[in-house]
Amino acid sequence: MLILNKPMGTDIPSSQITPEAIYQERRLFFKSLGIAAGSMAFLAATARQSLAGMTALPDFMRANNHLSDALTPFKHITSYNNYYEFGTSKSDPAEYAHTLKTDPWSITIEGEVAKPITLSLDDILKLAPLEERIYRLRCVEGWSMVVPWVGIPLSALLKKANPNGNAKYVELISVQRPSEMVGQRSNILDWPYNEGLRLDEAMHPLTIMAVGLYGKVLPNQNGAPIRLVVPWKYGFKSAKAIVKIKLTEKMPVTSWMKANSNEYGFYANVNPEVDHPRWSQATERGIGDGFLSKRRKTEMFNGYAKEVESLYRGMDLRRYF
Ligand code: MTE
Repeated sequence: MLILNKPMGTDIPSSQITPEAIYQERRLFFKSLGIAAGSMAFLAATARQSLAGMTALPDFMRANNHLSDALTPFKHITSYNNYYEFGTSKSDPAEYAHTLKTDPWSITIEGEVAKPITLSLDDILKLAPLEERIYRLRCVEGWSMVVPWVGIPLSALLKKANPNGNAKYVELISVQRPSEMVGQRSNILDWPYNEGLRLDEAMHPLTIMAVGLYGKVLPNQNGAPIRLVVPWKYGFKSAKAIVKIKLTEKMPVTSWMKANSNEYGFYANVNPEVDHPRWSQATERGIGDGFLSKRRKTEMFNGYAKEVESLYRGMDLRRYF
């Protein structure tokens, strides 16, 4: 069983062949999702489409899936996290995030739309076939990981609510439940966690809402049941456990901009040439690599320059960081 990670016609190294165990887990994921959603037939069809969909990814996505790099092991992706709702240490989310109840779940889409709408997770999963997208997530702190996400394009959700002519930005708002999220009992950030994108960034085919990783249902510490993934931006843009999406005319002020606008800008595009005020962004280290390992060079737009640089043509990326 191959996941087609490279352009056709090139040799596929053995590291890119999906081990049987992972493939079986992937089937289990779809099965368990089916039970949770109470619609086995639909999800079986979704699973088939999604597996077929992997081979049907547009070439540019396949070529830029960073698959020359090994996938980050599941245990690292799920034990070294930023999720301040559960504490500020990297190990807090894995320890405490199980207290968040992720079922039932819904997302309300409102603001500059033709019709505000509330969609259950089941409704959302019916909007588009699930796809596996292997993306690098580059954190502003200088570490990165390569993750096989499972999700659907954010554009599928936005289209459902029909943005009107005033809509220029998209605000994504995480859940606020201090009784279930121990970190929200302190004011380390302005809760609820919110993030924002320009409408064209939100509609870009690379921008997804993830519901799984490694073929499994998304673990709570990674943002279950549904989180944003924008692969060309620093990880903090990818808000977790989203309950509300607001279309707005004005640029939203995000939690990190409120916390420190000199250090965290609205755009947050991965850019090795624009340093964070307190450290360089030129290189990065994979999580779990160890401090003695060689750092890799950070790529412009995290390796997606070809696909997204046209969104920023003529903009001063130092000013709009
Ligand atoms: N979303 C919420 N709601 N709360 C958070 O603290 N942290 C962000 C982002 N999304 C965060 C969040 C940061 S700083 C990063 S780097 C990524 O989640 C980390 O995602 P991961 O834990 O899946 O690696």
